[in-house]
Amino acid sequence: MHVANPIMTLGVNIDHIAVLREARKINDPDPLMALSICAQSGADQITIHLREDRRHIHDEDAHRIIASSPLPVNLECAIEPSIIDIVCALRPHRATLVPEKREEVTTEGGLDVLGKYDLISTAIKKLHQHEIEVSLFVDPTLEAIEASERLGAEWVELHTGSYANLYAMRHSALPHSHHAIEELKLSRNELTERLENAYGTIVDAANYARSLGLKVAAGHGLNYQNVASIVMIDTIEELNIGQSIIARSVFTGLASAVSDMKTLCQR
Ligand code: PXP
Repeated sequence: MHVANPIMTLGVNIDHIAVLREARKINDPDPLMALSICAQSGADQITIHLREDRRHIHDEDAHRIIASSPLPVNLECAIEPSIIDIVCALRPHRATLVPEKREEVTTEGGLDVLGKYDLISTAIKKLHQHEIEVSLFVDPTLEAIEASERLGAEWVELHTGSYANLYAMRHSALPHSHHAIEELKLSRNELTERLENAYGTIVDAANYARSLGLKVAAGHGLNYQNVASIVMIDTIEELNIGQSIIARSVFTGLASAVSDMKTLCQR
C-alpha cells in the first residue's frame, strides 16, 4: 500500500529569473545564483525548461545549472529529437517531456500522449539509455496516465492549470491566466462546480497513476493560495512551482519565498 510522505517535495522552477535577465538581454540576474538559496530554503529539486526558442533558459545555463546544482535537476523539454539529443548530452537527473508551441506564453496543456505516442516512445528510450528518468507532463485524464505507464515513464506530472484558473476566478473574480477570459461569464455556482470537478479529476488521476506504480508530480499555476488542497492529495509526491515563487521573491527575497512555499507543502 502507498504510504504518503508527510511532506510534499518541492521543485522550484527558476525559469523566471532568466525571464528577467532576458528582458534586458544582459547577464543579470544569473539563475545559477538561485541554486544554493533554494537548497538552503527547503527546495528539494531545481526545475528548468529549455524551450526550443530559448526564450529564457539557454543551453549554457542548463549546462552550468546541472553541473553545479546541489539538488537534482528536472529539465523540462519538448519531444523533438534534436532537443532530446541535447538533453541526453546534458544528463539532468530527470527530463519532463512537455508540449511546446512557439506562440504560447507558457505550457498550455498536457502532452498529447496518444497522438504523439511513437515520438514520445523514442524520446523515452533515448533518455533511459542515458540514465535519465522520465516524467510526462499530462492533463489529468485516465487515458493519458494509462498511456504514460505503457510508455515506461517513471513519473507523470499532472497539469494543474485548469484548477488554478478556476480557483482564481472563484476566489478573486480574476482569471489566473488571460487565456481563461471566456470562463468569466460563469456564475459563482457554476464556477464552484467546475472548480470541484477540476480538483476531482486531479485526485482521480493521481490515485490512478499511483495504482499503476507511477510516481506523481503536479504543477502549473500553483501559488500560495491554491496549493493547500493539492498538498492534501497524498498520492501526489512532488510539486513543481515557478512563477508564484519568483513573483513573491521580488518583494520578500528568494529565501523566504521558497521557505514559505515549503511550509505550505507540509501535509
Ligand atoms: N511544471 C511544468 C511541466 C511546467 O511546464 C511549468 C511551467 O514552466 C511548471 C511546472 C511551473 O509552472 P508555474 O510557473 O505556473 O508555477
